[in-house]
Amino acid sequence: MKAAVYTKYGAPSVLKIKEVETPIPKNNEVLVKIMASSINSADVEMLKGTFLGRLSGLFKPAFEILGSDISGVVEAVGSEVTLFEVGDEVYGDMTGSGFATFAEYKAVDEKKLSRKPDSLTFLEAATIPSAGVIAFQSINNIKSIKPGQQVLINGAGGGMGTMAVQMAKAFGAYVTGVDKSVKLATLKSLGADRVMDYEMENYVKLDTTYDRIVDCQALFGPIKYIRRLNADGIFYMIGGSVSSLLRVGIFGSILSIMSTKKVGLLLGKPNNKDDIREIEGLMQQRTLNPVIDKCFKLDDIVEAFEYFETGNFVGKIVIDMADNK
Ligand SMILES: NC(=O)c1ccc[n+]([C@@H]2O[C@H](COP(=O)([O-])OP(=O)(O)OC[C@H]3O[C@@H](n4cnc5c(N)ncnc54)[C@H](OP(=O)(O)O)[C@@H]3O)[C@@H](O)[C@H]2O)c1
Repeated sequence: MKAAVYTKYGAPSVLKIKEVETPIPKNNEVLVKIMASSINSADVEMLKGTFLGRLSGLFKPAFEILGSDISGVVEAVGSEVTLFEVGDEVYGDMTGSGFATFAEYKAVDEKKLSRKPDSLTFLEAATIPSAGVIAFQSINNIKSIKPGQQVLINGAGGGMGTMAVQMAKAFGAYVTGVDKSVKLATLKSLGADRVMDYEMENYVKLDTTYDRIVDCQALFGPIKYIRRLNADGIFYMIGGSVSSLLRVGIFGSILSIMSTKKVGLLLGKPNNKDDIREIEGLMQQRTLNPVIDKCFKLDDIVEAFEYFETGNFVGKIVIDMADNK
């Protein structure tokens, strides 16, 4: 099969399209013919070998094929598979399952997959497993957002943020979306009540307080964030700088014990079936519409990563594998 392979950390040009062995499913696995995947920030971290990207492989990549989102068709099933049959349309998150979705096929533990609703295209389904699930968990974890609550999403124009804005609106919140000026019109069209250009204003330095802050690009320590919360408010760091991650992770939990406000990291729970069902419900009502900025073919994966790195996109960048079949 064809796959985008890399054997050393570096710029997108280290990704090479190569012929590799098609995986053989184990007894509990299905072989998925991949129809679409999408790029996430984690792929870029692992490609470049940033501090976080090297956690799985200090000197060279531990996983030579990147990609966590998968949507496709079951091509073969292992002898113990009970949930799926050949021809079923499925999707899931392969974080923690060896990644490797920038390829034509992947053998997957059947428990990691959900049946793709007919109402979703393969391209749409590929936007959900990583970004959609963490977005949903950021607004529904511990306690759901209630109608009228003030919610701020920082980095709202990205893959995760564009979903979180729509989900928070679906829960009835008053939503502020923060990102670069060119992305703000889209955020308004997705339902954001208020938008903020992070190059002009810094929400941590303003007086407004929120019931929930979801920060995809946290750069500060927990004290700045706790000051921006209402009583019982929650701040979730989804992504950001390593120093912020350490400070929020360590001191945020101490501050949270001493206060009714909570500040902490949110680690996604991939493939949570309850969350996926709720997300599918929102999509079927069209309350949630995946924002796909651009699709690239597997052969053009270098260009796709280069485009991701510019930051000049709104929503998701999808790898469309349909023609590779
Ligand atoms: N905790 C978890 O389990 C988990 C799971 C999935 C993802 N994540 C993390 O979540 C984060 C977001 O993922 P994503 O896929 O949505 O990334 P993304 O698509 O790259 O979106 C990030 C957005 O933030 C904007 N941005 C950059 N710097 C900013 C700043 N200083 N203030 C406000 N906005 C800023 C970016 O715009 P420009 O680049 O154009 O400025 C972009 O629109 C990543 O760090 C990712 O690693 C965490």
